[in-house]
Amino acid sequence: MTIADIQGSTSSEDSIVQVPIDKIKIRYRLRTPKQEKIEELAESIKTLGLLNPITVDNELYLIAGFHRLNAYKLLGYKAIPSIVKDYSHLHSLLGEIDENLKRASLSHIEIAEHMVKREEVLEKMGLRMISGFNSNKGLISTQALADEFNLSKRQYRMKKQPASIVDDVRDDLRHTKWSDVLMDMVKLSQQTPEVQRKISQLLITGKCSTFKRAFVEGSIQVMRRTKDYKIDFDMKARWGTPHSIHRFTKSKIELQEICNLVAKDEDVAWVKRDGLHFGETTIPVYGMAADHAEFLVTYYTPEGGRILDPFMGRATNGFACLEHGREFIGYDVFDKNVNRTQQVMDEYYPDSKFQLFHSDGTELAELKDKSEYLDGVVADPPYFLKAEKYSKDERDLSSMSHEEYMERIKSCFTELYRLIKTSKFDEKIFYPVIFKVSHQRRGTQGIIDMDMEFQRVAQECGFVTWDKLFNKLHSPWGTVNWERNYMNKYVQKNYEVNITFIKF
Ligand SMILES: C[S@@+](CC[C@H](N)C(=O)[O-])C[C@H]1O[C@@H](n2cnc3c(N)ncnc32)[C@H](O)[C@@H]1O
Repeated sequence: MTIADIQGSTSSEDSIVQVPIDKIKIRYRLRTPKQEKIEELAESIKTLGLLNPITVDNELYLIAGFHRLNAYKLLGYKAIPSIVKDYSHLHSLLGEIDENLKRASLSHIEIAEHMVKREEVLEKMGLRMISGFNSNKGLISTQALADEFNLSKRQYRMKKQPASIVDDVRDDLRHTKWSDVLMDMVKLSQQTPEVQRKISQLLITGKCSTFKRAFVEGSIQVMRRTKDYKIDFDMKARWGTPHSIHRFTKSKIELQEICNLVAKDEDVAWVKRDGLHFGETTIPVYGMAADHAEFLVTYYTPEGGRILDPFMGRATNGFACLEHGREFIGYDVFDKNVNRTQQVMDEYYPDSKFQLFHSDGTELAELKDKSEYLDGVVADPPYFLKAEKYSKDERDLSSMSHEEYMERIKSCFTELYRLIKTSKFDEKIFYPVIFKVSHQRRGTQGIIDMDMEFQRVAQECGFVTWDKLFNKLHSPWGTVNWERNYMNKYVQKNYEVNITFIKF
């Protein structure tokens, strides 16, 4: 039965009618009636009559007058004077929303929007507490709403959360796969509108293919390094007493986040490997840990100095330089490394000085006319014999034979000897040329120890070996290779050597 049946006609105006008590429906579990209050009310109604009619909607759902209705029931009356609110349009809206919510194909943005709309409708029907109001007199609680969806209160709130993402971002993401993951949308909604827009742009332009990546990139957007950025770095507090064996980690330092903008960029993070072990798979390109680069730069190179990395890769050393107030010159033969690094440096270090060259770091042709020009070099050259092939470029050292490789390295040291400033031992002024190297195993020919090879070549070019630091690696290969290592009577190599050369 609806109000139309009782009145015989529909009316858009509120009107007072006698409604049969047994037809009145209660949509939500409201608070428990207070028996004492009901009896008191019944007593007063018996003598004075009902002073205020109750309120129902046109489907005969009770809106207000819970105790009055119960008092009427107690008195055994059959009908009660009621103000009837015409909520037909709201009812049909609510019906439509509920129907939609049953559809499995809604994304989390749409679900959230529907849930919020639903609450607005209930609010208009006077059933839902208007946010900001304290009184919950007879109104539907969040718990009751959550119960309807078989959710806990917390889950209900969370499901609603994506509706607070800014309008334009919701429009952009509503029908994409990203809005199928509730927690991602919740996380997005907690960001500032600026960051939300940035993340959404990264996703819909295809710049980032996962939400996680876009989130990292989008949310550190704001931390640009401008001129006001002060270097506040206490060497002792940061590193303690540096020892000759050190373990660096990709720790959660802010610098790592910036490095990841390049290192984890889809274009440069993966290489095709088609060797015996790897088939046709892609593997992540090796990248140095940010705190390792930070150590080499801050411990060894002079503040404010001009530092070169001739094989910069994804420029971990470069970012460490800019972060710590050095100038940076970077070389790489892989164009995507150079382009992406340029973008991130332009954006995050707009006031820093840096120059990047898509060019051969063993020739340094762009610095031909310079000498005594650099305050430091921090280099992480590639392996050779295709151990870690970076690109198809024929200048790529990683494709070369051992002999060709060492020849190129010698050319590099020759150029560096001209370019690096002369250190002054008495004044304790040092301009370091640091190379991070490892070793290469060649079956029956044993290992090529790059530490030794690099020292030999550097010394041939006039350098002095000044310091040596071992950085401990934590690769999982030890466990995998255990048996083979044991059979061949060698141990798993789990270190790299960082050699500092000086020109006196
Ligand atoms: C070991 S990676 C450097 C990794 C870097 N430290 C990082 O954290 O990403 C070596 C880099 O040297 C580059 N490379 C190889 N041959 C080169 C050459 N002749 N001149 C300049 N760069 C070269 C490769 O493209 C590769 O990016």
